[in-house]
Amino acid sequence: MKPETKRTVRPARNVRGSVELPGDKSISHRYAMLAGIAEGPSRLENYSTGADCASTLGCMRALGVPWERKDNVIEVQGRGLALAAPASALDCGNSGSTMRMLSGIVAGQRFTSEMIGDESLSRRPMERVIKPLTAMGARIDSQQGKPPLRITGGALKPIDYKMPVASAQVKSCLLFAALFAEGESRIEEPLRTRDHGEVALRTFGVHLDRRSTGPGSEVRIRGGQRLRGVEARIPGDLSSAAFFLCAAGLFPGSQLTIPNLLMNPTRARLLDILMQMGLRISITQLDEVHGELVGSLQIEGAGLKGTTIAGADSAALIDEIPVLAAIAPFTEKGIEVRDAKELRVKESDRISAVAQNLRRMGAQVEEFEDGLKIPGGQTLHGAELDSFSDHRIAMAFAVAALRADGETVIRGAEAAAISYPAFFETLERLTER
Ligand code: S3P
Repeated sequence: MKPETKRTVRPARNVRGSVELPGDKSISHRYAMLAGIAEGPSRLENYSTGADCASTLGCMRALGVPWERKDNVIEVQGRGLALAAPASALDCGNSGSTMRMLSGIVAGQRFTSEMIGDESLSRRPMERVIKPLTAMGARIDSQQGKPPLRITGGALKPIDYKMPVASAQVKSCLLFAALFAEGESRIEEPLRTRDHGEVALRTFGVHLDRRSTGPGSEVRIRGGQRLRGVEARIPGDLSSAAFFLCAAGLFPGSQLTIPNLLMNPTRARLLDILMQMGLRISITQLDEVHGELVGSLQIEGAGLKGTTIAGADSAALIDEIPVLAAIAPFTEKGIEVRDAKELRVKESDRISAVAQNLRRMGAQVEEFEDGLKIPGGQTLHGAELDSFSDHRIAMAFAVAALRADGETVIRGAEAAAISYPAFFETLERLTER
């Protein structure tokens, strides 16, 4: 285990500059997995620098997929749908995405794999993939629905499945598993979640049909399709950019440029919400790369009003809610979050973590089972905070600390490396004191 790192964040006067983000975490995971089961080589440029995406690459290597990293490019030698039996357990580290999505691929293999994770991942719910994969014919042992998972795969049956939880990880898991089933599968999600799995499958040459069902969507996919390797550049991670966007929102007069950022509509709700709250964002050089929208952002800070996030927005903003909540005390009217109980089963219980850290900074916060209510117009003081070993909590409170009176210390700041190792240095470079 890495030693605990404390980071001190001093109050800032402004945020200014330009920042290009490492490749999107959600897309990086999916490209690495699909490149492994594709035929021929793939070249993945601007692959995520985060430890989670390295966990996915480690698992692919253990499954017999050779790859090499040259700076920010990963070259993968795909081996087709049949992977090799791993000699030891597949270590997913802190990454729920790795365990949930890769379980769909190993469920289609004619061998047994064990998937393990760190302390946080070992507490996270896996029934959401165990149940449908078992219905498709895989045999899965778990610790009462939690990791480690022991998966014995083989020939799978197609599935017609309406997911009870809106989860893009589960959707991708089942679409990947469906590749190994004979016949057509249908996966329905109750609310629209990120569609990188669908987009990536098409990029690797898979045919699928997608249809909107109103608030959600349905995907049909036939098994036995062969994937072909790709050369692709991964757009900058929008969920990592969220920290800088919110930091800019704290300071009227801030100016930020973010080139080559992912703009996929299933991910970009944050931009609408911040604009409704008063942040000025203009988007140029909008382009589509391998089915994913990419653009350059110019951001200008102005006082933020406040908002309510509920219903479909809570699913769409699930990774950005911690930082929105952390800056809520500095908005005019505050922020209320509801219908977000999924936050309780992320890398940490993010509702409780946000409430505890805000209170340590002297904020007034109301906590609900499914969300938070944080009044606006508050003054916060610097304090000693905890990352709760959660990357998004570490980064969210580094942002809030910019507007506190006095210094803030973040314990467990090394957690940021799970998705964004250069975060603290980049934040420091962009802030004026
Ligand atoms: C992700 C989906 C979301 C998100 C996670 C990445 C993905 O999780 O929180 O950071 O890449 O599909 P859920 O599917 O559990 O909502």
